[in-house]
Amino acid sequence: QGPHCIAIDGPAGSGKSTVGERLAQLWGYLYVDTGAMYRAVAWLALHEDIDISDGRALGELAQRANVKISKPEIADGRQYTVTVHGRDITWEIRSPAVTQAVSPVSSHPEVRSLLIAQQRKMAEQGSVVMVGRDIGAVVLPDAEMKIYLTASLEERARRRHAELLERLGEHNPALPTLEAVIKDIQRRDDIDRDNMLMAKDAIVVETDHRSISQVVEVITHLVENRR
Ligand code: C5P
Repeated sequence: QGPHCIAIDGPAGSGKSTVGERLAQLWGYLYVDTGAMYRAVAWLALHEDIDISDGRALGELAQRANVKISKPEIADGRQYTVTVHGRDITWEIRSPAVTQAVSPVSSHPEVRSLLIAQQRKMAEQGSVVMVGRDIGAVVLPDAEMKIYLTASLEERARRRHAELLERLGEHNPALPTLEAVIKDIQRRDDIDRDNMLMAKDAIVVETDHRSISQVVEVITHLVENRR
């Protein structure tokens, strides 16, 4: 593990990726969004027509998948660029089809053990801010600081809908209704529950009534007070 290692976990829409990226930038740490890794495997499974209930096939797929997450060279609002076998799938992994498939794909131990090993390797490269569902409890149990971000289902859905509106535009037929987003997040919360582990020593930060900058400030204080 690198000198500094901050784990941020939380459900979909809790703000963990936006907050995690800001903190990593502020401190000059590597930012690792583990959700993107699970999404890339789900994308590949759909692309190669692999049964998403077949854990062994998915494990093999994850093993031979050449997924790369790198610093973005395109300024279109992306936090990073995701490529698989050289193809840019940064936005495709955000599609409704992938979002639908990702939780069942990530529920297989064969997939998890492989990605967890890769995530640990990344944390050995230097200081990191790593975001996900099980980072503090499973991936990096020795993390210097473990944060668990929460928000109500309605607030999380509202944020995700606002993001989609911003990216897709109001008149885009691909823009889901707020109700559809609520249903989707609820469905993912249900499937993800088993892998949604809160470390015993995690600090819960409630984000319903806090802006991104306020959450960043709260976490910065927590980290500074600990050092
Ligand atoms: O964070 P994001 O919504 O992109 O994550 C997509 C999905 O990947 C989650 O719903 C969950 O099923 C899975 N995931 C996981 N463990 C992680 C990160 C993500 O199981 N550490």
